[in-house]
Amino acid sequence: MPSPRLLVRRPEAPTTDSWSPAGWRSLPITQQPTWPDRDELDAVADYLSGLPALTGVEEIRRLREELALASAGQAFVLQAGDCAEPLGLAATTSARAKHRTITSLGERLARELHRPTIGLGRLGGQFAKPRSEPFEAVDGQLLPVFRGLMVNEPEATALARQADPYRLLSCYYTARQVVAELSRAGGGVRTSHEVLILEYEQALTRLDEATGEWFLRSTHLPWVGDRTRAVDSAHLHFLAGLGNPVAVKVGPSATVDEVLRICALLDPHRRPGRLTLISRMGHRQIADHLPALVRAVVDAGHPVAWMCDPMHGNTVRGVGGVKTRHLDAIVGELTTFVEVLRGHGREPAGLHLEIAADDVTECVGASVTDEHQLGRAYRSLCDPRLNHEQADAVVAAVVAAMHP
Ligand code: PEP
Ligand code: CO
Repeated sequence: MPSPRLLVRRPEAPTTDSWSPAGWRSLPITQQPTWPDRDELDAVADYLSGLPALTGVEEIRRLREELALASAGQAFVLQAGDCAEPLGLAATTSARAKHRTITSLGERLARELHRPTIGLGRLGGQFAKPRSEPFEAVDGQLLPVFRGLMVNEPEATALARQADPYRLLSCYYTARQVVAELSRAGGGVRTSHEVLILEYEQALTRLDEATGEWFLRSTHLPWVGDRTRAVDSAHLHFLAGLGNPVAVKVGPSATVDEVLRICALLDPHRRPGRLTLISRMGHRQIADHLPALVRAVVDAGHPVAWMCDPMHGNTVRGVGGVKTRHLDAIVGELTTFVEVLRGHGREPAGLHLEIAADDVTECVGASVTDEHQLGRAYRSLCDPRLNHEQADAVVAAVVAAMHP
């Protein structure tokens, strides 16, 4: 009989002694490109580790405090931007426009919800994408998929699709311009992105000498996506040791046990503002899946900020196979989200959207009356985004759902 003390325990949060920015390297990792030359990648990452950080420790701490207010229903987060960010001049132009959109939608939310809005962009680092398949067939040729401009190019040629580690540097310099642009535009919008290529993120993880804490200074709020959120994975371990507020997306395959283990790993001290869970269930699945997760997290005493991403569970193939999302489904999901949270005595902490600042036709609803109109201005590098009018309609629907 094993003595009870020898029974295997679930992994707890890594202690400061056991966590290091490189610790993820010994753990299972998914959704990574095949880099042609790992030494080249390491050399680029090494160079990156000597470049200035993009965000400041005090700004990051302040966001954590603001997210604590959001988790208590005293503030509301609007997180929005492209699915996949562009590089170079297009990124700064787009960031300026996104800043305007997030600010104006945020002002409306603040006015109508009677609580301050926290503006967050999918900006200044949203360059790497998880994909459902590693390869795709184009005109009879099997090509690696496009994984975001941090990795390769969308153009359907073997050369464009080859992973190139020097792209990490292009992304860094673009992110630096985007951050400068956001601060020129008057602040108020902080950065967030999915952490996927951990060589990049590790190089921008810096020690705060004053407190001995590690901060990821490529962004303010890093998140791990639904495809890379396995509890014992490199990606979750990487988040666990950071002083930043962190977020994890949870989709319909997430079990109660998995979500509780994510909470134990990322929020062992039950600190308000530390952990945001972004529900992205899909309008057909949310009522079946979300209630048990919220109940379990509430019972376990984690003061999680629950946000709703009503985009990623509602992607469908429209006419001609083009990826789209319908406003009805988006509004349906977020309305159920509000009901589920309130039904468990929790306030919705915010909304996560994919938006374009220009007049795109990628989602169906409002001025885009049917799927046949999608071809008019479909410009996304990855997932379909809401145009301004559609984003306005979603914000109006959130307000309506919050004040039934
Ligand atoms: C995304 O946010 O673009 C994304 C891929 O999300 P998810 O992890 O929710 O699928
Ligand atoms: Co997306």
